[in-house]
Amino acid sequence: MTPNPHTPTLTSRLPKVGTTIFTVMSALAAETGAVNLGQGFPDFGCDPALVDAVTQAMQAGHNQYPPMPGVPALRQAMAAKMQALYGLRCDPNTDITITAGATQAILTAILAVVHPGDEVIVLEPCYDSYVPNIELAGGVVVRVPLTPGSFRPDFDRISAAITPRTRALIINSPHNPSGQVWSEADMLHLQDLLAPTDVLLISDEVYEHMVFDGQQHQSAARFAGLAARAFIVSSFGKTYHVTGWKVGTVVAPAPLTAEFRKVHQFNVFTVNTPMQHALAAYMADPAPYLNLPAFYQRKRDLFRDGLASTRFKLLPGAGTYFQCVDIADLAVPERDLPEADFCQWLTREVGVAAIPLSAFYGNGFDQKVVRFCFAKQDDTLREALKRLARL
Ligand SMILES: Cc1ncc(COP(=O)(O)O)c(C=O)c1O
Repeated sequence: MTPNPHTPTLTSRLPKVGTTIFTVMSALAAETGAVNLGQGFPDFGCDPALVDAVTQAMQAGHNQYPPMPGVPALRQAMAAKMQALYGLRCDPNTDITITAGATQAILTAILAVVHPGDEVIVLEPCYDSYVPNIELAGGVVVRVPLTPGSFRPDFDRISAAITPRTRALIINSPHNPSGQVWSEADMLHLQDLLAPTDVLLISDEVYEHMVFDGQQHQSAARFAGLAARAFIVSSFGKTYHVTGWKVGTVVAPAPLTAEFRKVHQFNVFTVNTPMQHALAAYMADPAPYLNLPAFYQRKRDLFRDGLASTRFKLLPGAGTYFQCVDIADLAVPERDLPEADFCQWLTREVGVAAIPLSAFYGNGFDQKVVRFCFAKQDDTLREALKRLARL
């Protein structure tokens, strides 16, 4: 609609936010016919049995509001999974809430606990919703860089960033965009660091089932001192190849969950019912998520092997469905462009969309690294590799 003189002028709550780079690159990929390895979503379907389960749930009449915290069977299935995988005993009635994806879970957790002026530490590069979420809550964003190159946590810097005003720390392992994975030693280090504080932990674990080379996902749930202060966030979208369903969970101790639900009930109130019933039934078999590391490791290896003979320098790929590469040694002059311009050029001229890492930093830090998503059919990956080979 065209605004007219009756349209009030707004002072933006989020003046620095525009259209996200993911939307921009996906639109450009569609416009130019490029292979879209930019935005993180699979280009293949989910298990048809899961779709059938949704149909069955609808036919069985599960089409009205579910209970506010989520369908009991799904919360029970999550509780059983948290105990089986991570040894965490949690009560589905008081400790687990079903959310509209991880994005809503993280926003709701932040709105529930961050008061105006509270500091929240983010480790950059970080997922793009964290900072606007903190700003919406009136919080103060404290940015601590992960070590460039390795993307490992720098505990001295995290420690130095903690003040009496620190309300929460957001971590994300396996990590988008870098593909780095925190070790058990990292989590123990964090546990020791936070022990003398009241700092809450928001642990974004949406890629929990994409950890490779025989490593284990080190969920905050495994560490009593972390679980006691954490909102642990997961996403069925990532685990079951259904990013468009937007269903996730938050696991947190009862007093934290109680505050979380106060915001949740006036935010989305509930999450779509048939999907919750379907997911609950589907979770009875752990094989789909237990087999996910092997499924994605094979795709990672296909993609890495293809890039190994090019001038792209591969960064570590320990987890997630992202692979970062250093572009500094490419044989084309465009390697000297800022990452974002390089990605535009790569999409238009080479026919492969990627995401600049600078998009994950508040100050646009440019380290000549771009991110590819390999959650794609093998043929899609092969086509992208063929196009990238000429660089
Ligand atoms: C690190 C991270 N957190 C959260 C999300 C959002 O997950 P959901 O689609 O369940 O909202 C994503 C999606 O890309 C992500 O990469």
